[in-house]
Amino acid sequence: MIQKYVFGEPFETEAVTALIPASEGAPAFGSICMENGFSFSYRLAPEDIVYGLGEANRGINKRGYRYISCCSDDPIHTEDKRSLYGAHNFIIVSGAPGKASFGLFFDYPAAMTFDIGYSCREHLAVSCEKADLYLYVITGESACDIACQFRGIIGKSYIPPKFAFGYGQSRWGYASPEDFREVLQKHRQAHIPLDMLYMDIDYMEDYKDFTVNSKNFPDFQAFVEEMKRENIRLIPIIDAGVKIEQGYPVYEEGIERGYFCTREDGSEFEACVWPGMTHFPDFLKPEARKWFGHWYKVLLDAGIEGFWNDMNEPAIFFSAEEEALLKEWMQDIVEEKETFHSFNLSDRSKALPNKPEDYGRFYHEVDGKKIPHQQVHNLYGFNMTRAAAEAFADLAPDRRILLFSRASYIGMHRYGGIWTGDNMSWWSHLLLNLKMLPSLNMCGFLYIGADLGGFGSDATEDLMLRWLALGVFTPLMRNHSAAGTRRQEFYQFEHTEDFRHIIGVRYRLIPYLYSEYLKAARDDDLMFKPLAFVYPQDRIACHTEDQLVLGNEIMIAPVYTQNAIGRPVYLPEEMLFVKFLPGGAIYQETLPAGHHFVEVALNEVPLFIRKGKKIPLVDAAEYVEALDMGTLCYIGDQNAPYELTEE
Ligand code: NOJ
Repeated sequence: MIQKYVFGEPFETEAVTALIPASEGAPAFGSICMENGFSFSYRLAPEDIVYGLGEANRGINKRGYRYISCCSDDPIHTEDKRSLYGAHNFIIVSGAPGKASFGLFFDYPAAMTFDIGYSCREHLAVSCEKADLYLYVITGESACDIACQFRGIIGKSYIPPKFAFGYGQSRWGYASPEDFREVLQKHRQAHIPLDMLYMDIDYMEDYKDFTVNSKNFPDFQAFVEEMKRENIRLIPIIDAGVKIEQGYPVYEEGIERGYFCTREDGSEFEACVWPGMTHFPDFLKPEARKWFGHWYKVLLDAGIEGFWNDMNEPAIFFSAEEEALLKEWMQDIVEEKETFHSFNLSDRSKALPNKPEDYGRFYHEVDGKKIPHQQVHNLYGFNMTRAAAEAFADLAPDRRILLFSRASYIGMHRYGGIWTGDNMSWWSHLLLNLKMLPSLNMCGFLYIGADLGGFGSDATEDLMLRWLALGVFTPLMRNHSAAGTRRQEFYQFEHTEDFRHIIGVRYRLIPYLYSEYLKAARDDDLMFKPLAFVYPQDRIACHTEDQLVLGNEIMIAPVYTQNAIGRPVYLPEEMLFVKFLPGGAIYQETLPAGHHFVEVALNEVPLFIRKGKKIPLVDAAEYVEALDMGTLCYIGDQNAPYELTEE
């Protein structure tokens, strides 16, 4: 059952698509105080588990920390960070069997704090500055049922084209056709499957959206076609900020039509991002959305079939205002008007990016009213991605276009997927990747993945292999890294054959992964579930955070520690332990329920098939379209039914 409560005058975020009449009175759980903004409090029982928050730091069980829902461009995701790129205000309080369980969705587009047993171990407190929001309270049979009911009211999840289940290679720095050709050739020479090459900002002219550097790409369309003949899709990046430059049509049109965010005095807000000073399109305005979305046509017409939307929190290196202040400061130092310690200046410049003051300097126009950005901050990336998806529905109605974004709010899952931003080549981020998967699914995001191997810092071969053995299961499987870090294309490492093998396993599993994805989208279900959602009566399973159930058939338990020869694993029921061995053989051993230590070498991919289940497998191929369904076989209990969904 779902009840909706209205507080004050909520902003219409369009996160929820179902029409639910408002309930009178107070929610059955917790207490609400509206004296100082809004706050919801609930006393947690010691056994309660709190799920949710989508793209958030720390565990699957969110207890024990304070999180702030505020889309943030922060590339250093250490454990102490409170906000990441997404803002997903859905949580489930899951009581022990027989105790209260309920879900809460706070539909509020500004910053919101979730203190989940941080200040006080048994206290859940959710608060925000203004008491203007919708609160949805969901009760059901189980945490899983509550998550599925929630999914039922926020609309169907985005489905990408099938090629997007292939492997993608990316790196910030590929700039010319030669760069892309080299990456492709090296994959094909080494027979490492590959379907997509991602184009980071270096393909553009001066980092201007919807432009292509014509010196490097004199005939872009011909290059896109050349790549397609090789069965490769090029996936360009699009950034939120539009470069301020006379003669650049996106800028000129935006100014002429009044489609950019403005300051209080009505002038366009200026923020420095990759292209230098930019204006931010006002994606909250339907006309501006339509206008920006239709600019993707330039690239669609050149044969492009997928995009990634970046810097859309929106990220701000510094605003024109901050730049002016900094210049004054520096001038003062130069003229020695005042004595400043050098660290003061350095602190000040370090504090420039994504400054709260800057987010307070611009406005949106919604239904003729000026809305301060901070009040709707978390909707920006969502509406940029919506702009693209709505335009695709118009420009390419018969095709699915690949689309994913960095920033997001609940509701964006209808328009695209997400990647989880600038992680690091750290073992802890491999585990964080795993833990985010079910939480993101609870919030509707099914097309998801992390930068495999890590975006920042230097990847090592063992980390890369272990991370891939998780990445073979994530719908978005992309290796992306930052300029200046150690190269991490697979052929850069010593044992290329191990990478070929692991990526090959991904392609063998695509019929299964694609089927499970389509079923999860169709049924408002999770593709990745915490063990607790499947085995709620099993206390150990309920507290297992490094294993997940994928679809209805398998459990995954990747190795995520350095120099490990394997890992401990807990089986809530008898399962078939499967390892894809290099050379193509498949190791199979039935293991009884309970605790085990399983050995997994660096070049093996483990999974566990549940009792009485089977999964489809095909032979590997070098790209998705080459997969031969004639080679289909099943692994697991051959008598079990399996619903294979192909389209
Ligand atoms: C930030 C993104 O998160 C990253 O993936 C990208 O490489 C850089 N921007 C440069 O475009």
